[in-house]
Amino acid sequence: MTRQTILTGVTTTGTPHLGNYVGAIRPSVAASQRDDTNNFYFLADYHALVKNQDPESVHHSSLEVAASWLAVGLNTQTAIFYRQSDIPEIPELMWILNSVTAKGLMNRAHAYKAAVDANKESGSDPDQGIMMALFSYPVLMAADILLFNADRVPVGQDQKQHVEMARDIAQRFNHNFAELFVIPQAAIDTNTAVLSGLDGRKMSKSYNNAIPLFVPETKLRKLIMKIKTNSLEPGEPKETKGSTLFEIYRAFADESEVEAMRSRFAAGIGWGDLKQELFEYLNGHLGSARDEYNRLIAAPDHIETVLQDGAERARAIAVPFIAKVRDAVGIRSLAG
Ligand code: TRP
Repeated sequence: MTRQTILTGVTTTGTPHLGNYVGAIRPSVAASQRDDTNNFYFLADYHALVKNQDPESVHHSSLEVAASWLAVGLNTQTAIFYRQSDIPEIPELMWILNSVTAKGLMNRAHAYKAAVDANKESGSDPDQGIMMALFSYPVLMAADILLFNADRVPVGQDQKQHVEMARDIAQRFNHNFAELFVIPQAAIDTNTAVLSGLDGRKMSKSYNNAIPLFVPETKLRKLIMKIKTNSLEPGEPKETKGSTLFEIYRAFADESEVEAMRSRFAAGIGWGDLKQELFEYLNGHLGSARDEYNRLIAAPDHIETVLQDGAERARAIAVPFIAKVRDAVGIRSLAG
């Protein structure tokens, strides 16, 4: 059997938080250790422009995301780790894919539709403030995926539709021109935890309820103390279900630790004690990676070298492949 290709991207908006770590970074880093698959991980910095047009913040976020992945042990020997904007073949392919992407398909994309609906709701013009980059976002994502012929694309549930659109686009190209693209599949791991944030809603940068993965110790403690609980007193039995504190603990602890914690909930552990414990536990777990993260943030030249190495390896694949794609659509030299 030929080796499977696994590819995923992370948009460089903001600072990685515990939810990103548990849901995406940790499983990808674990997968990067495997050498029976081809693994591609990249910083989707062109995608970041859709949401973030503050140049300093786009730039800094790339550093923070790259440092986070490296600090927790991404294996850049087996995996190819690169920055989207270092691969000019991606936007080149995007243009070619635009020619086989139905506008009607893009009209159905959730993120775009939500923006249109919000406009309609507020009585504005439906297109108010909507940029082409938001509309074309799924085509760029299709180019990311199809350029490297990914078989499997690990993503969260919210990105599933985009991978399905990439399938549609690939099928249309293959049918119209030549069977060049692998039809990708979204890989959604229902076992990976989705963490809640400080206010109990899903941890997300846009809800402003996130705990950054590598905040300094004192700040980590402060944030954990802010996590919402109910008003049960120490000594009163507590439900683990619906407890953000429990959920975060469970995402890091092993099975026997989780069982022990369940009993302590039943026995009425106080929320204050639990918060202090969770802080100590996380601080212990993340401490050495945090040191490494801080070391990497202070060494951006090193990170740049790692990314350039990744880009070189990625382009060794992308350059010959895009030549085939161009040839298939009739864009080639006139010389015999
Ligand atoms: N859109 C994805 C997200 O916001 C990031 C992304 C960009 C991606 N290109 C990709 C994910 C290609 C998987 C494959 O999470």
